Amino acid sequence: MADPPSTVSIVGAGTMGAGLAVQFARHGVAVTLIDHRESNLADAEGAIADATAFLRAEGLLAASASPAERIERSLDAADGVADAEFVLETVSEDRERKRAVFETVAGAAPDDAVLASNTSGIPITELGTFVPDPERVVGCHWWNPPYLLPLVEVVRGAETSTDVIDRTAGYVEGVGREPIVVERDVPGFVWNRIQFAVLRECTQLVADGVASVEDVERAVRDGYALRTAAVGPFETADLSGLELFRDVADDLYPHLSTATEAGPAFDDRIARGETGVAAGAGFHDYEESLAEAIRRRDERVRAIGRARERTESREEANDG
Ligand SMILES: NC(=O)c1ccc[n+]([C@@H]2O[C@H](COP(=O)([O-])OP(=O)(O)OC[C@H]3O[C@@H](n4cnc5c(N)ncnc54)[C@H](O)[C@@H]3O)[C@@H](O)[C@H]2O)c1
Repeated sequence: MADPPSTVSIVGAGTMGAGLAVQFARHGVAVTLIDHRESNLADAEGAIADATAFLRAEGLLAASASPAERIERSLDAADGVADAEFVLETVSEDRERKRAVFETVAGAAPDDAVLASNTSGIPITELGTFVPDPERVVGCHWWNPPYLLPLVEVVRGAETSTDVIDRTAGYVEGVGREPIVVERDVPGFVWNRIQFAVLRECTQLVADGVASVEDVERAVRDGYALRTAAVGPFETADLSGLELFRDVADDLYPHLSTATEAGPAFDDRIARGETGVAAGAGFHDYEESLAEAIRRRDERVRAIGRARERTESREEANDG
């Protein structure tokens, strides 16, 4: 396995920053967690404690391990990145904020530090234009919660050097995660393109009266995704035979959604204040708090991960 960075400076102590701090710290990395608001650093402490408790409860962290002890906090981005081997920007998804952060850290971090962004959608090539040396700017897109999900997209901007891609992929492996190298800086990278292609089709099916929200949800969660968690779409096509899948694709593709906007499925609910779990309603109604709903999701994700680990170790034992 590759080595983690010796030091990481995480700029932005929100949902992702706090989770990332835990993931790096639990692999022995000295973390500096930076925010421009004291109250957000204080909130991050609670999120770090919650993530640590979750990992312990799931048997993923020894009772004696204390990631929080390796996490320093800072309100000063320039000072906070001065010793960083790896800078991971995870401030709010706003170009001007990210520009300000990249301008600051490019001048303050060591010359050979990697400057990575966790952006979900701002092109890495554009972030590269905010610094004098764009070859060291790279996308490093984690999924929430970063201390649980195994994959991280490492995204090449137009100017990113191969050395920086390799170092970033190595750092990701060094903290127990698997990199997916995204070789072209396309909108949505890989995972979000797939996620939103599926969501677009789901909303279209409901809008066309083909099936209810509940049944489309079940079709994905308990059907498509359950099997896809075992074999991906290409292996599924291989199993069925490519002639069959080609014929189905040729018949079906012309009927799939090509919507270019999120549309009334979102607009109407948002107008009614049904903006999601935190508001008590979105596509579904909720009685639990956001924290409870997140916990429930994470426990399910972990249960699926555990089942896969058990199956894979049985397969390895049989192969051996
Ligand atoms: N939340 C997710 O599920 C998720 C998943 C993958 C990627 N992302 C991406 O990660 C980034 C952060 O998302 P989040 O959900 O953690 O956001 P968030 O709103 O929870 O946290 C953002 C933090 O950045 C801080 N911040 C803003 N400007 C700053 C500055 N100039 N200097 C220092 N700190 C500053 C804010 O105070 C806040 O604490 C975004 O780019 C987002 O697109 C989010």
